[in-house]
Amino acid sequence: MEPIQNVQKTLENSTNDDLHPPVLSKNAQKKLLKQQRFEANKLKKKAAIKEQKQRKAEQKHREWEEKLASISEEEKTKLIQSQRELKRERMEKASEEREKKIERLTRAKEEGQKIIIDLEFSDLMTPNEIHSLVQQIMYCYAVNGKSPLPGHLWLTGCSGDIETQLQRLPGFDKWMIEKESRSYVEALQDQKDNLVYLTADAETVLDELDPKQIYIIGGLVDRNRWKGLTKKKAQDQGIQTAKLPIGNYLKMSSSQVLTVNQVVEILLKFLETRDWKTSFFHVIPQRKRHEAEAEVGEQNEEDGSGESKKKCIEQSSTDEGNLST
Ligand SMILES: C[S@@+](CC[C@H](N)C(=O)[O-])C[C@H]1O[C@@H](n2cnc3c(N)ncnc32)[C@H](O)[C@@H]1O
Repeated sequence: MEPIQNVQKTLENSTNDDLHPPVLSKNAQKKLLKQQRFEANKLKKKAAIKEQKQRKAEQKHREWEEKLASISEEEKTKLIQSQRELKRERMEKASEEREKKIERLTRAKEEGQKIIIDLEFSDLMTPNEIHSLVQQIMYCYAVNGKSPLPGHLWLTGCSGDIETQLQRLPGFDKWMIEKESRSYVEALQDQKDNLVYLTADAETVLDELDPKQIYIIGGLVDRNRWKGLTKKKAQDQGIQTAKLPIGNYLKMSSSQVLTVNQVVEILLKFLETRDWKTSFFHVIPQRKRHEAEAEVGEQNEEDGSGESKKKCIEQSSTDEGNLST
């Protein structure tokens, strides 16, 4: 697949005047059109959501005004006071939760399991894939903040396109996460022996999370176009590799390659429960499991094995966020 950057480079390098308009290959034209359509749709969706929100707010305001108009002055004062009280309680609760989250994340920075998201793959992704990765990172950060036992999250190789997009996220500057422009091998060179690159292609199966080890996840959305890439990278760097023990608990219908946010969420759930089965079942959508379990049930009846197998279909999206592998 030809990345959009290449399409743009082709355009830039072409003679661009009226007599010689830039010549694009058919493939590049298709890519450009697809990208333009994606951007246009995104803008349309954003505008529609904004309009819907505005309509809802107006409707709520109208209903409130109507209610006030229909009651006595005394009732009006009471209602306004109770609304103010509710708002104050809500704000207090939110502020307490924020403080607790800051405490948890501060502790995680000192003693939490180190988890790295390796962001050195920008050049191998299309803008849509980079966008999807940014969404996944946002999701990872949110889940980590809510976790009772958060990990100590790192973003290494955080520079270029991906950093620019992350910087656009509201509040990114204040995120309690390590942002490191250097690669993990440079940033953590004194701990190289403790680095473990997680990859579905590894031979070693992870059975525990060791607090001394630092687990690396490839920040890549590629629909497995770059098969075996992270395994090769780790091997070239002399770093250990390991895969999640999915096969011990679930029977996947195709590959066991998960999205970045799924892997982070599974690790966090495991830190909390110390139970892989619970962690996998918590993260892999129930809808998928049910479909799959039914299929396996039928199959077992046919072959008479009666073995209780759980089958899980590889996800291209999560229930919450439509996030891609
Ligand atoms: C969408 S996958 C990227 C697949 C990519 N082709 C590769 O070579 O890793 C994103 C990352 O999640 C992690 N990952 C996904 N499935 C995994 C599994 N079954 N076991 C361990 N890590 C996994 C890996 O770190 C992987 O790089």
